[in-house]
Amino acid sequence: MKRALVLYWSATGNTEKCAYSIRTGLTDAGWQAELQKMGAEDSQDVEFYDYDLICVGAPSYNWTAPKPVDAYLRRKFQEYKARGEVVPGAPKRPGKQALIFCTYSGPHTGMNEAIPAGKYMGQFFEHLGFTIADEWYILSEFVGDEANSTLGRMGDIRGLPSGADLARLRTAAKNLADRL
Ligand SMILES: Cc1cc2nc3c(=O)[nH]c(=O)nc-3n(C[C@H](O)[C@H](O)[C@H](O)COP(=O)(O)O)c2cc1C
Repeated sequence: MKRALVLYWSATGNTEKCAYSIRTGLTDAGWQAELQKMGAEDSQDVEFYDYDLICVGAPSYNWTAPKPVDAYLRRKFQEYKARGEVVPGAPKRPGKQALIFCTYSGPHTGMNEAIPAGKYMGQFFEHLGFTIADEWYILSEFVGDEANSTLGRMGDIRGLPSGADLARLRTAAKNLADRL
């Protein structure tokens, strides 16, 4: 049975909802899928290479990764580097894939506020030989900030991700797992 890890961080719940939907989609495809919150006590012990697919999710904060996410990924990266796993050319490890998902509100410049965060997170895994299978950017309410949830470039985004958005994510995760 193929194994996936949904590794995420979330402060106001949007990314967490997405993580749950992605996990459900992966299990729909017959995969064994685990959830792990970055920074949780046991998250430092995760062995990335134990998984066929790692789904890495976080919100965009100031168009980059939030500090706890950055700290977690950097610390893990140092661990792999010390083990000699980071080598020039970053050769691909057969069968090792990563999916990046990033929630954002885009009040100022839209999805461009999320892409740098997604690319940044992906680099940790590409450096370890994972292939980036896809990057998903999910428009989400700026919880607790009405102006940024109603007056921004993306319009009224209150209540996002919607049930329909989450159902689409579930299907997309199943489809991704089916093609890997
Ligand atoms: C401190 C902070 C900074 C944020 N900065 C941005 C930003 O630069 N661009 C953006 O599109 N959204 C930004 N957001 C909105 C979040 O990316 C969005 O609401 C996200 O879905 C929150 O995820 P969470 O509910 O999983 O914590 C910010 C939110 C917070 C709390």
